[in-house]
This record gives sequence, structure tokens and C-alpha cells, in this order.
Amino acid sequence: MEQRSYKAISFHLSGLNGISDRTLEMHLGLYEGYVTNTNLLSEQLMEMTHNKKASGTNPAYSELKRHLGFEYGGMVLHEYYFGNLAPKGRGSPSAEFKRALQESFGTFDVWKTDFVAVGSMRGVGWSVLYHDPVAGQLSNHWIELHQQGVPSGFKPVLVMDVWEHAYLLDYKPSERGKYIEAFFSNIDWDVVSQCFSSNAAVRPAA
Ligand SMILES: [Fe+2]
Repeated sequence: MEQRSYKAISFHLSGLNGISDRTLEMHLGLYEGYVTNTNLLSEQLMEMTHNKKASGTNPAYSELKRHLGFEYGGMVLHEYYFGNLAPKGRGSPSAEFKRALQESFGTFDVWKTDFVAVGSMRGVGWSVLYHDPVAGQLSNHWIELHQQGVPSGFKPVLVMDVWEHAYLLDYKPSERGKYIEAFFSNIDWDVVSQCFSSNAAVRPAA
């Protein structure tokens, strides 16, 4: 069976504050790798299913299936990440989004402090502000690697990559805080506000 494959999005992102074009070029290349691997693994797994090799007792199948979550997560999170950046930032948080942040965190600054704290945790992963569309709550989460800790059904609203590849060409390993500051100065708040207000998860598509 022919599967629909994903296409990498051309983000045309450059001129960010504190995140060099060289970093962006390398990072966008890594993202394209996630798209390629997502398609490849999906094809291989489908082939195994058709050839009756899909079984929990088949280590090859189990390994590919486990790895699929990593590649899929890497692809999707990078699309949110590049999608919520604009050179030197754009717009400001909508009144509705600000109100929701206040309801969940008390103040914008308390939310930001927590989001930055999540992004400063040791290890490689992501700091993500999620919206629970059922309870209406906003909450910050640490996503380990690309796939561990994602609350099912929650919408990503703001996504920050804190893998070392996101900043090591521009900063020392101990300077992740400077990268986070730079990230904040490049946030496209129009996109973030739209992600919050939409009924469904919104991410850029090829
Ligand atoms: Fe990344």
C-alpha cells in the first residue's frame, strides 16, 4: 500500500537575534533528517505489517516502532519550533492568551519563569507550553528527547528546543540561559496566540 509521505517545510528563517544563520542552517538540515527518517521508518513498518512480520515478539519490529516515536516527535516539534520564531520577534500575546496565562499561572512573569526553568533542566529535550483543550488549563512540560512526556491530546502553544545543537555554535554549553533569552526575543507572538485560540493543534505544513 502506498503511504502518504511527509515533505520538509522550507522555513526561510534568518536574521534572528542571538541565533546565528549558521545554527539555523545546520538545525534546518537536522529537521530534514527527521522528516526523511519518519517517512523511511513508516514505510519499513508498513512493509513488515504487509509481510506478516509485525509482532511484539519480533525485536526488529519493536525497535523500529519505538524509534518511530523519536523521529515523528523530532519532525513535529521542530515544525512548531521554527514556526513560532520570527526575526527579532513579532506581535504580542493576544488579550485572550494573556488572560488564560494569568488564570493558569497568576501572572505572565510567573509563567515565563517556569517555562525558562523547564528549558534549563539538565538533559536534551524541549520546553513546551501546552493547552489542555478539555480543562482549559495551560501548563509547561519537559519533553525528554522528542517523545517522552507529551500529554496526549494537549495542544502545543509555544515550543522551545533546548537540545545542544540549538545553541552550541553560538554559546558555550554553560550558556543555555543566553540562548533562552535570545529565543524569547524572537518569538512570533501572533503565531503563538493563534495556536492558543485555535480549536485544534496548528503547525506549519508543507
Ligand atoms: Fe533541534
